[in-house]
Amino acid sequence: MTETAVQHPDERPPPIFETQAVSKAFPSVRALSGVDFRLFPGEIHALMGQNGAGKSTLINVLTGVCAPDAGSVLLGGQPVHFASPQDAEAAGVRTLYQEVNLCPNLSVAENIFIGRQPMHGGTIHWAEMRRRASEVLAGLNLVLDVGKTLDCYPIAVQQMIAIARATCLDARVLILDEPTSSLDEDEVARLFAVLRQLKQRGIAILFVTHFLEQVYAISDRITVMRNGEHVGEYLTVDLPAAQLIEKMVGHNRLGETLAQAAQAVKTVVQGEAAQPLVTLAGLGRHGMMQPVDLEIRAGEILGLAGLLGSGRTETAQLLFGVERADAGHVVIDGTAQRFRSPRDAIRKGIACCPEDRKREGIVAELSIRENIILALQAKRGWWRKIGRRQQQQIAEDYVSRLGIKAADIEQPIGLLSGGNQQKALLGRWLATSPTLLILDEPTRGIDVAAKFEIMQEILALCAKGLGLLFISSEISEVTRISHRVAVLKDRRKIAELSAVLANEDAVYKLIAGASE
Ligand SMILES: Nc1ncnc2c1ncn2[C@@H]1O[C@H](COP(=O)(O)OP(=O)(O)OP(=O)(O)O)[C@@H](O)[C@H]1O
Ligand SMILES: [Mg+2]
Repeated sequence: MTETAVQHPDERPPPIFETQAVSKAFPSVRALSGVDFRLFPGEIHALMGQNGAGKSTLINVLTGVCAPDAGSVLLGGQPVHFASPQDAEAAGVRTLYQEVNLCPNLSVAENIFIGRQPMHGGTIHWAEMRRRASEVLAGLNLVLDVGKTLDCYPIAVQQMIAIARATCLDARVLILDEPTSSLDEDEVARLFAVLRQLKQRGIAILFVTHFLEQVYAISDRITVMRNGEHVGEYLTVDLPAAQLIEKMVGHNRLGETLAQAAQAVKTVVQGEAAQPLVTLAGLGRHGMMQPVDLEIRAGEILGLAGLLGSGRTETAQLLFGVERADAGHVVIDGTAQRFRSPRDAIRKGIACCPEDRKREGIVAELSIRENIILALQAKRGWWRKIGRRQQQQIAEDYVSRLGIKAADIEQPIGLLSGGNQQKALLGRWLATSPTLLILDEPTRGIDVAAKFEIMQEILALCAKGLGLLFISSEISEVTRISHRVAVLKDRRKIAELSAVLANEDAVYKLIAGASE
């Protein structure tokens, strides 16, 4: 079913990296079916497809994480059989996988040079390593204490460190599987500047993302995959976004639906503002977040907008009891509350779908069913066990409502694709039937089509009275769907805008203006 829509084939050098008729099956799914893929030197190539389409599997086959069942991989025209990612690295193929795969308790410098530390007389040359690590990071405009352990830094910074690691040595091919999902706009811009430099040096870059605007900002060429098959290869300039979505989902109904999305949201917005569900009254914690006042009403979406480090996640953590507040309190049903743990918050009807699915979210070795019912079970209390039949019903309900692509709810959740894990995590929190839902970067890693469907699902819940605290690093997304937007900067609230006034420009102006 491959389309060959790419023009000017004669102007191109031969591909540097290639798969020919590659197939890969897992016990429950055919992840790749006869995929012919080509990556050319000096290009930035976007690999696109819905959650579970086979993108990460293709990357794993290219980089020696897993062997294909059939077909071949060619590097520089020669067949290669990488037995491990280290083999691929040695051949000049550097990869940044979907999850940050560094060692949290090693220093930043060690993480960058692990496995290839500069040596001096048979021992590691620490000073040299630190100097070079700082230099590499400076290339990404990052000034860090490279002697500190990795876990001292937030996820986004860790991601930049992983990028530094991937780019610091000579590479012929650089592969990035969703490198930007935890970065804010500034950092994405820095990363893109680095990628453009590398491209100028002739390096071939393969890039997976679910952010369409990034595809159009940076890529020269696009390969689309669907259900493990190669749909086609296109020059980015020849493939407008609506067509790209159509190729990814396999039908053309979505373009229209996406266009109607904003309208659908506005309909919900027009509902009468009800009484406050939850009020944050001067809630804060010394050194973490200045006391903040917020009111979230039934049926309403309150957006939190701000740059990375502005206090978005911190506000969510204080409200949900992950961090204990030392100032103010939360008011629910007219009663002041001080949550000492998430369990206290869950009992009061609050749910929070966190930003980092690996650290705070999924339990990889438990099944999809067990992962989905986890929060509901905790809410009811562990001694009142939910029966197996009911667990199955709940899990199946959310698998179908959120379009989780899985063979079986008894599969370990770790075997799902990244985006499908994220959907299951959302299902876990929806299953608690919360009155207030906090979504912190809820659609990170979720494909455009699924993202739209999930937001529809959540808006329908809002129409029935759910209150929503919506946090996203995409300011345009926050302003598009929220009734009100609270703008945060430097760990304090600097303004609140109504839906009519809230747009991306207004938010940026407030952030820029409040720098004194
Ligand atoms: N180790 C594994 N065992 C079983 N199934 C797997 C394994 N790895 C991947 N799969 C399945 O293969 C399919 C393709 O997954 P893959 O991770 O390649 O998707 P993806 O395109 O990267 O999606 P996403 O955008 O969500 O990251 C999915 O159905 C997934 O559940
Ligand atoms: Mg993936």
